[in-house]
Amino acid sequence: MIKFTVTSTKGGVGKTTLTANLGALLADMGLRVLLIDADVQPSLSKYFPLASSSPAAGLTEMIVRGEITPACITPTVYQNLDVVVSDDPEGNLPHWLLNRIDRGFRLRLALQSKAITGSYDCILIDTQGAVGPLQDAAALAADILVSPITPEILSAREFKDGTMELLDRLEPSSAMGATLGPMKAVIYRQDRTIDAKVIAAGIREDFIKLKGRVTVLDTAVPHAKAYKEAATLRLPVHRHERRREGVTPSAYTVMHQLAWELIPSLEGVYADAGSFHRGVL
Ligand SMILES: Nc1ncnc2c1ncn2[C@@H]1O[C@H](COP(=O)(O)OP(=O)(O)OP(=O)(O)O)[C@@H](O)[C@H]1O
Ligand SMILES: [Mg+2]
Repeated sequence: MIKFTVTSTKGGVGKTTLTANLGALLADMGLRVLLIDADVQPSLSKYFPLASSSPAAGLTEMIVRGEITPACITPTVYQNLDVVVSDDPEGNLPHWLLNRIDRGFRLRLALQSKAITGSYDCILIDTQGAVGPLQDAAALAADILVSPITPEILSAREFKDGTMELLDRLEPSSAMGATLGPMKAVIYRQDRTIDAKVIAAGIREDFIKLKGRVTVLDTAVPHAKAYKEAATLRLPVHRHERRREGVTPSAYTVMHQLAWELIPSLEGVYADAGSFHRGVL
């Protein structure tokens, strides 16, 4: 089982869109995927239609019990794709967590629950775009952190400062038995302006200088209306836009490249070919 947490200290960069679409792509490749909505604003929970209109439980039970029970899991209408919904509209969970000495490890511990080990190949956790105990717990639960970054100068600066703060804050947790996974930054919502290209190149260079604490992936997700359209239709974007005319690659192509770069053992596996064999992860 491989665990990703999608995180960024900046809001509105595309975390939920990326989590949902990556999860749906992996599910269509044949992996059994569990999405966890660890944002108190439940965007991921509402992203795809759920098979049940009233989930029995969700994030609150998962954090408070420190365990994912079967009631916490709600199937989406898509095969192989389930979700732990966010059910904390008043935002009590971050406060609850703050008072716990094991706040950094609660989510990590929950991912060892009987209800999920052996039942899922991949877990993807979405987080809120603000620093807080829930975001920290989600970051410490992952094997790999994925962080979308928009190539705009202010966002890029904020990304760098925010990411370094996150790493400086959480890397010492390794001493307590939880190693912070590597961070993979994804240049996200890149448009075709010169400015965006220059900034994207600058981001890559900056992180090379930081000696590998953050790797910038080769795959960049373009700014394209397909992502918004697919969200409105509540469809995985790789199903919504399979082909595209022009220089911007289709969402189908981009999402595959991203998945292959994040999980190299999946290279050559396509969403609809049914060619995935369990055991490659
Ligand atoms: N590749 C893309 N191209 C264009 N628009 C996009 C793309 N990806 C996402 N968007 C749009 O950007 C907006 C923000 O995306 P999203 O909600 O995923 O960000 P977020 O980081 O989860 O935000 P928050 O911090 O509020 O949770 C949405 O309207 C979404 O449809
Ligand atoms: Mg979000």
